Amino acid sequence: MSHMIDEIERVLIDEAVIGKRLDAMARDIERDFPHDPLVVVILLKGALVFAADLLRRVRRVLEMECLNVASYHGGTESSGQVAFLDRHFPEVRGRHVLLLDDILDTGRTLHAVSRRLSEEGALAVHSAVLLAKDKPRAVDVAVQYVGFEIGDEFVVGYGLDYQGKYRNLPYVGVLKPPPVRTPLPNH
Ligand code: XMP
Repeated sequence: MSHMIDEIERVLIDEAVIGKRLDAMARDIERDFPHDPLVVVILLKGALVFAADLLRRVRRVLEMECLNVASYHGGTESSGQVAFLDRHFPEVRGRHVLLLDDILDTGRTLHAVSRRLSEEGALAVHSAVLLAKDKPRAVDVAVQYVGFEIGDEFVVGYGLDYQGKYRNLPYVGVLKPPPVRTPLPNH
């Protein structure tokens, strides 16, 4: 693995496997939206890499919008709160929206954003995620396109970060546990 770095314990999904799956997801999206001009809403920053690679495979006319929402605050525990950080919300009234996020965990982010898109007048909201954790959701949320189901562990790479780092890794991987620091003996 060329892009391997020390902090990664193992690669969960490599670049080639992701690419193949995105080809299939793009065909599904083309099939489901044969004519409608689509607005794609990308959740920053996690879905950036996924969106760039997926949308270049979708042979449809579409518009891209980005939304900044905060739900994680740099740690590995979900805060339960979803905050909309942008001054302006994309214009979605009467439009079909495809919402893209990196990973479905508790479901709170997609739930809150889809609800807001509907409140703003979107005709229909569909969601796509690269990853979905295999665990019960804290809230009910329908996701039409899932790249991969993964176990309930913290992952980085391919857009996903730990404390702002590792988003540029071309694969999804698991971090090594932080080093245990043994206290220095007193003397
Ligand atoms: P919820 O719980 O709202 O979570 O479905 C979605 C958001 O939580 C972040 N998240 C992760 N980020 N590795 C990450 O880097 C993970 O394993 C992970 N699990 C959840 C992510 O921002 C996602 O949009």
